[in-house]
Amino acid sequence: MTTVDEFNATDHVKEKEDYFMASDEEAQRLSNQHWVIKDAMPSKQLVCAPVDMSRDQLCILDSGTADGTWILDLNKETGGRHIFVGTDVLESQLPTVYPSNATFHAHDINNAWPKEYKEYFDLIHQRLTLPFAGNKCKESLSALMDMVKPGGWIQLMEGTLLTTDSVEVNPCMHNYLKIVHAIYKSLGAPLTLSRDIPQWLKEAGFVNVETREIHVQMGASNKDTDLGKRGAATQRDAAKGMVEAARKLPKLPISEKLLDTFVEDFTRELGQKGACFPIMAIWAQK
Ligand SMILES: C[S@@+](CC[C@H](N)C(=O)[O-])C[C@H]1O[C@@H](n2cnc3c(N)ncnc32)[C@H](O)[C@@H]1O
Repeated sequence: MTTVDEFNATDHVKEKEDYFMASDEEAQRLSNQHWVIKDAMPSKQLVCAPVDMSRDQLCILDSGTADGTWILDLNKETGGRHIFVGTDVLESQLPTVYPSNATFHAHDINNAWPKEYKEYFDLIHQRLTLPFAGNKCKESLSALMDMVKPGGWIQLMEGTLLTTDSVEVNPCMHNYLKIVHAIYKSLGAPLTLSRDIPQWLKEAGFVNVETREIHVQMGASNKDTDLGKRGAATQRDAAKGMVEAARKLPKLPISEKLLDTFVEDFTRELGQKGACFPIMAIWAQK
């Protein structure tokens, strides 16, 4: 039986760049998170958009790819028949060992993309990354849309920033959301982001816009004990980064006393009760 601590990361050393969560633990945290989210997806599918993955040589971009786990997993599932590009603002987080049909390079979603990428991709995927465009989320999404081939697809996944858990059973989860909301506000990102995206896609002329709320169970509420523990470790490490970021805000989102013990309290709540993190999957066709 594995324990939460077995999912600690000590082997990734990255410099602090533009991503406020950057830390030694972050790449391992995101890799654990990938498997928990994937398990919660409809039919455990990485791609909800109805892309015909049996075709050869589709060009697929994963923006905000971190250590490329999403790409490497999809590449394995699709037998190496596609061409993948992975980008992230943290160059040091990108994988250094990968198959020849994938490339990875640094890119900040707030900057212009390479001109060659215009209408280049059959599928663009971006998960839990758009808030880092701050008050330019719409513009940043628009730049992604420009890179989709006519007839191609885009799939975004962003937290709803709501929870189905009650405040009586999950007080820490509710405090966690207060912290996340305060950080979104400090970045300038809208709290309604997951509900704004479908509208922005439609306004830009994308069709077949669909959404699906995915309930990711972290900790004891996950039916799979191993994934539950990975999820709890993921959230514990996320909470560490969030608490650090919250301390730098002009106004603390929760009391200093609650903030001081938040990581331990949240870890306990996840281990004993678990918590639901709803993520909205949104996909659309150009
Ligand atoms: C919450 S993680 C999600 C990672 C991955 N997409 C996943 O779902 O597992 C956010 C990712 O966005 C990246 N990121 C943060 N700011 C960014 C920016 N301005 N441009 C591109 N990537 C950014 C981080 O380095 C990190 O890998």
